Amino acid sequence: MAHGPSTYTPKTGFERWLDTRLPIIRFVNDTIITFPTPRNLNIWYTFGGILAFILGIQIVTGIVLAMHYVANAGLAFNSVEHIMRDVNYGWLIRYVHMNGASMMFLAVYIHIFRGLYYGSYKAPREILWILGVIIYLLMMATAFLGYTLPWGQMSFWGATVITNFFTSIDSLIPHLGTAITEWLWGGFAVGDATLNRFFSLHYLLPFVIAGVVVLHIWALHVPGNNNPLGIDVKTPQDTVPFHPYYTVKDGFFLALFVLFFCAVVFYAPNMLGDPDNYTPANPLVTPAHIKPEWYYLPFYAILRSLPNKLLGVIALFGSIGTLFFVPWLDTSRVRSSRFRPVYRQFFWILVVDCIVLGYIGAQPADAVWHLGGTEFPLVWLGRLCTLYYFAHFWVVMPIVGWIETPRPLPDSIAKRVLATTPAE
Ligand code: HEM
Repeated sequence: MAHGPSTYTPKTGFERWLDTRLPIIRFVNDTIITFPTPRNLNIWYTFGGILAFILGIQIVTGIVLAMHYVANAGLAFNSVEHIMRDVNYGWLIRYVHMNGASMMFLAVYIHIFRGLYYGSYKAPREILWILGVIIYLLMMATAFLGYTLPWGQMSFWGATVITNFFTSIDSLIPHLGTAITEWLWGGFAVGDATLNRFFSLHYLLPFVIAGVVVLHIWALHVPGNNNPLGIDVKTPQDTVPFHPYYTVKDGFFLALFVLFFCAVVFYAPNMLGDPDNYTPANPLVTPAHIKPEWYYLPFYAILRSLPNKLLGVIALFGSIGTLFFVPWLDTSRVRSSRFRPVYRQFFWILVVDCIVLGYIGAQPADAVWHLGGTEFPLVWLGRLCTLYYFAHFWVVMPIVGWIETPRPLPDSIAKRVLATTPAE
């Protein structure tokens, strides 16, 4: 996974022996000890490491939860309550796992927007970006499957709404959508068979994610990190060894993130959850307002902004699928938005657009704003924001890249860093 020639020299007889058979020490040394890393990486570059850490936490807590959880429609809800009340520290393990999912999405959104701002998807990092989008899709699937497991009202109805997306294919090819949906359910409604397969897949996917993360980091280590200036590393002065410089910096920000994570787990563990999910699943009672977890809300708003179900589902998948094309939609010759005065403005409009979409996704489908006596249906704002979302990638990115005059780039990372560091 290292980049450039190896810098490792075995010191002991054992290391020499091992190095000619399984050069694992060389691998660790070249990957996380001496790996030449741009000297100007800022706080936004610590989130990849934070994500890897939370993925580990989710896998460990998930395995322990699975030791006590029962994937059966008649027992699942009570088995979760048993974990909360009877299992030693079960409440802690569950709250960490439950909020860990939110923390992972928070970190991944920061990580993605960082990539968008600094143009980290541009050549030669296209595959690194695409692997990231695959990880993101896998994360969304994993979180959806996990949310059904406690078998509360939102688990059941959320699973019903999402799996029903596939029935929209019926309007294109009659019966096909229903056939696919029933095949996914393993019956004629979300039920015991569905819960069982969702549990099995929820256990499997995190390991698939871990595998793709290995590829992601491999693809990162071939060209090396991008950096906030978006210019290439030119001389050894532009870089520092990963250890101790970035092990310390990543460790420090990881500790701050863990403090924030602990504050949520210990003081507001149900803040991000839906109270309806503490009511056992009941196929005969539909909750008044079915809404997904916060991290899906912008996509839920996109789905509902189209009047036709099939078009809504296409827009939903299209909004994530669009991310695969970003490396080729951005036509600018400059990577970092720091030197792109026009694109930078649009970047922030996209951030606000996604937040507004999230707000709309959390409101009931027929919500209205009362503006000075006139009623303004929120779905119209949703439509406007959906339009901007797609226009941002398919229109703004290519056109601004062509017409914008970027600011002059610095000669090198080292010159820029040393010029802005106060003399001691
Ligand atoms: C479990 C999820 C993920 C993990 C563990 C992970 C891990 C990492 C790590 C350790 C780095 C290097 C440090 C850093 O730049 O922060 C990195 C860089 C990067 N990641 Fe991820 N990542 C994940 C998800 C994603 C996603 C969803 C995307 C995009 C859709 C993405 C895109 C990138 C890009 C473009 C870089 C290079 C950034 C640069 O050098 O400027 N990653 N990732």
